[in-house]
Formats: sequence, structure tokens, C-alpha cells
Amino acid sequence: MEIKYLIIDQKGNINYYRKGDFHSHFGVIKEKDIKTGIVKSHSNNNFTIIKANFLDNLTKIKRGPAVSHPKDIGTIITTTAISQKSKVVDAGSGCANLASHLASIGCNVTTYEINQEFYKIASENIKNLKLKVKIKNKDIYEGIEEKNLDLITLDLTEPWKVLEHAHKSLKQGSFLVCYLPTITQVQELIKQINNKFYLWKVSETLEREWYVENLKVRPKNQMLGHTAFLVFLRKI
Ligand SMILES: C[S@@+](CC[C@H](N)C(=O)[O-])C[C@H]1O[C@@H](n2cnc3c(N)ncnc32)[C@H](O)[C@@H]1O
Repeated sequence: MEIKYLIIDQKGNINYYRKGDFHSHFGVIKEKDIKTGIVKSHSNNNFTIIKANFLDNLTKIKRGPAVSHPKDIGTIITTTAISQKSKVVDAGSGCANLASHLASIGCNVTTYEINQEFYKIASENIKNLKLKVKIKNKDIYEGIEEKNLDLITLDLTEPWKVLEHAHKSLKQGSFLVCYLPTITQVQELIKQINNKFYLWKVSETLEREWYVENLKVRPKNQMLGHTAFLVFLRKI
């Protein structure tokens, strides 16, 4: 069921609200009183209520394997200049997090998933998010049926096995982006690109959150140290 509101308590805890009366340590809010703004619970505590958006729903999808991180997805979108007109193939789907982000900005997305269990999770998530994403229970190492693509994203272990297929399916100048946790995978991939792709860039995106609370104005102690290297290749 869709998340309708975020109900945030005075400690900054975010509750994802779907329906019914809302209960917490700071009191109860009746369903009929749940609306945007500052709302008091029966025990007179303030809650901030804001309308949930697509991303709030996306962060709560059913999880399978590790998902591509939003900071990295942002880099993929801005580097490849994809838009509502873009035709994209993604693999493996995992729980369809990356595929859903790409579909939410209007891309025409097809995603490949080899594992039956993850295929089911991804299909369910796509349905619940009401997205138009085509999902195939197939091994992308065996080929890509789609042609004239503006982007291919690969979040799987051996992307070099997709280089030939990707070259046949991409438009000239378009991007193949590989999401790789280890630098040895990056090296292996680059070793194998031959004259089919131009190495546009290898990057890592770091995001550091800050506290801005009265005199406490400083970076948070903990940050997500590493998610993946992004390898951007362009078809020659
Ligand atoms: C790390 S997950 C991808 C997560 C995804 N990017 C997301 O954001 O939800 C890797 C997925 O690739 C799938 N996979 C691995 N090899 C594959 C292949 N040859 N063809 C299709 N899917 C593959 C795995 O089963 C797994 O679900």
C-alpha cells in the first residue's frame, strides 16, 4: 500500500504512514486528524506531517540484493544526460531500485534479472510503484534484444561479458555505465574495452551529511565510506 505521509516526531524520527490511527511514544493521532502541517498528538506533542513522494515510497520497497545508492544514481543521470526520450537497458534488476529511478524521470526502461527470486521481488516493486518498466527473467550475458539504446547500466559482477552485446545495442556516442564495488573489476573491464568504447571517466561519488543544530554545525561522525566505482564508457 502506498505511503501517504511522513510523520516526523520532535526527535526527528520519520514514520512512513499508510493508513489508520498513528501511534508512537509521543502519543496518538487519529486518522481523521492526519493532514500536512504541524499536528498535535493526544498527549500534546507536536509532529511535522508532510506529503510522501515517489522517492519516499521507493526507499521502502521490498529488498533483495544490495541496491545502487541514490548518490551514485544521481551521478549516472547527470553524466549520461538521459531524459524522457531515452531508451535504457539495465541489469541486473536486483529489487529494481536503479531501474525505478530511471523510469521515474521518464526513461523507457527494460531491466534483465537472471535470478527467479529477485525477478519476483523486482516485478512486485515495479507494480506497486505503478511504473512502466519492462522486466525480463533473462541472463544479459547471453545478449540484449533491445536496439538503438541511449544508455545501458550494469550492476553485476562481470560486465565485460556484456561489452559485445552492449556495442551492438547502443547508439553511437551513448553510454554504458558499470557499477562496480572493487577496483580489480574496474581494471578487468577497462582491459577488455578494446576499440569498441571510449573510456569517458571512472569516478566515485562521496556524500557527507552535516549537523546544523544551534552550535553543533559540523559534519556527522559517520558517513557511507564506499558503495561503488562508476565506469562510464561511450560507444565508438
Ligand atoms: C547488486 S544487484 C543489482 C541491484 C540493482 N542495481 C538495484 O538498484 O536494485 C545485482 C543483480 O544482478 C543479477 N545478475 C547477476 N548476473 C546477471 C546476469 N548475467 N543477467 C541478469 N542479471 C544478473 C543478480 O541476480 C542480482 O539481482
